[in-house]
Amino acid sequence: MITSKISLTALDVAHHYDELDDFYRLAWGDHVHHGLWDNENDTRSVEDATLHLLQRLTSTLHLKSGDHLADIGCGYGASSRWLAQTHGLNITALTISEKQTAQARLEPPPSSGHIDYRVEDWLQNSLPDNSLHAAIAIESLAHMEDKALFFQQIHRTLKPGAHAALAVWTTADDLTRLESHLLQKVCEEGRLPGMGTLQEYQQLAASTGLLVTEAVDITPQVERTWWIITRRVLTGLFTNPHYLRFILNRAFRKRIFVLTLPRLLLAYRTGAMRYAIITLQKPH
Ligand SMILES: C[S@@+](CC[C@H](N)C(=O)[O-])C[C@H]1O[C@@H](n2cnc3c(N)ncnc32)[C@H](O)[C@@H]1O
Repeated sequence: MITSKISLTALDVAHHYDELDDFYRLAWGDHVHHGLWDNENDTRSVEDATLHLLQRLTSTLHLKSGDHLADIGCGYGASSRWLAQTHGLNITALTISEKQTAQARLEPPPSSGHIDYRVEDWLQNSLPDNSLHAAIAIESLAHMEDKALFFQQIHRTLKPGAHAALAVWTTADDLTRLESHLLQKVCEEGRLPGMGTLQEYQQLAASTGLLVTEAVDITPQVERTWWIITRRVLTGLFTNPHYLRFILNRAFRKRIFVLTLPRLLLAYRTGAMRYAIITLQKPH
């Protein structure tokens, strides 16, 4: 497990997303997660690719109209809205960022299903035991301080037999010292208390009693995302005054957040940073 050298709490993560709210919405749009491209020749747009990742992730959840799903770390709620609309689900969408929740509530509600947007820490969530038909967590696990508790909460809240699907940032199994240092910096700047390997996450899930039904590294199909985001930010710096405002902003500079993009590109290029899908089932 790569851990940040500075201590990071849920409050730090919340501040990160609140402070960078405008920037994230400008650079990423509604979905703050990677896209999925099937192969090198797949020319879909980043918007289509983010939806493609969501479709791939949720295809194993056996969703039925009226089901209760938790969206763990829901960002601006775009995944929840798409799932409510297409499957008629009852969704509890949790984030620890007040700004994200406020923004999500401004969006037109889906015409099918229902979404309850909440500012709530997943590690201390108030959902009843055995209450969920399904759960998703897209790129939120690395932000959680206590990874074991993350999985315990999934086990506690899922109904017996129910499934969860996670899209997770992971690290390679064998890292050089330089790669570990690079990832530590990514953790500090991205407000990630720690990032585990795919195997470590599978072990943690299994130790809570969850069955790991799939664990697959899909790095080559998602890493294009960072080149697109970097190009978007660089183009934005020359064409959109809002981007310049961020770069000149003190809080933004303090974090040298702008260095995170090249670091992430390097971490993906060297193979140190990975991306995976994990699907879980609570035994009957
Ligand atoms: C990279 S964003 C992904 C957002 C969303 N899943 C998406 O794909 O658009 C990470 C999200 O995890 C949320 N998060 C981080 N730690 C959390 C926690 N302890 N409890 C609930 N949400 C958390 C953040 O607030 C943020 O919304």
